[in-house]
Amino acid sequence: MRESLEFYNQFEGRLIKDYVLGNKRVIGAIKNLGQFIPKNSQKILDIGCGIGWSSYEFAKSFPNSQVNAIDLSPVLIETASKLFDDKKNLIFKTYDLTDGLPKDTYDVIVMIDVYEHIPLSERFEFHKSIKKNLNNRGRLVLACPSKYHQAYIKEHNPSGIQPIDEDVDFETINQIAKDIDGEVILFEYQNIWRNYDYLYAVIEINPEYGSSDKMIKYSPLILESKKERELRVESKLGIKLEQEKKTNKTSTRELILKYIKKKKG
Ligand SMILES: C[S@@+](CC[C@H](N)C(=O)[O-])C[C@H]1O[C@@H](n2cnc3c(N)ncnc32)[C@H](O)[C@@H]1O
Repeated sequence: MRESLEFYNQFEGRLIKDYVLGNKRVIGAIKNLGQFIPKNSQKILDIGCGIGWSSYEFAKSFPNSQVNAIDLSPVLIETASKLFDDKKNLIFKTYDLTDGLPKDTYDVIVMIDVYEHIPLSERFEFHKSIKKNLNNRGRLVLACPSKYHQAYIKEHNPSGIQPIDEDVDFETINQIAKDIDGEVILFEYQNIWRNYDYLYAVIEINPEYGSSDKMIKYSPLILESKKERELRVESKLGIKLEQEKKTNKTSTRELILKYIKKKKG
């Protein structure tokens, strides 16, 4: 995990840029998969939360739920805690998912672009943790790049491959469902930048026929606007986006790079 830790400690700039500019992959996953979080959920776990964008949107949309958000990188968790320090029902914690999961039981466990970063040899143990930590009738909600997208990246943009970046397909999702005694209630390819480049999957423990509380209520979640995200980055991280862009004609990307450089001293 050392290589992954070093890699993700350097990932902050990219995730801040995704947040400010509104990355389509992340927006799509939060909006669409958020619909599978039942309104009455008491506890939600967001694994591999990065700088906490999805965790914040879930905490905002489900004010009666406690959202626990974890990530391998202490750098990302520190930024998440600064950026989203205004929700009482949201807690960020550094945690390596290959060490098991924080001891608790959850109604929903969300993983947005994270499952593919689990080494193949660790998958079974991880499934055991999910099984232990997911409530009877709980849901595991996933977004991952498709095997088609992984093949494309390997061929056309190999530098875009992360330290651990495994293929995930229907067989993988089905195996998770078997290992956690759940059932696949959704498996769907998405077209974010290219057709079939991402997949969404939801696995439910003991699906209950006709249960009204599991019906989709939020269709889809309403996220912060670009203006609100810019203001948040300015006020919580001190990146002067508007002022600098106007006076020095600097791009958002350059400003974020400058912030990261300054932070590192
Ligand atoms: C591609 S990023 C996705 C971040 C965010 N969920 C998003 O969609 O923008 C993968 C995230 O998984 C985290 N991660 C990778 N391996 C992990 C591990 N073993 N335990 C916990 N988090 C991990 C990384 O630190 C990183 O934030």
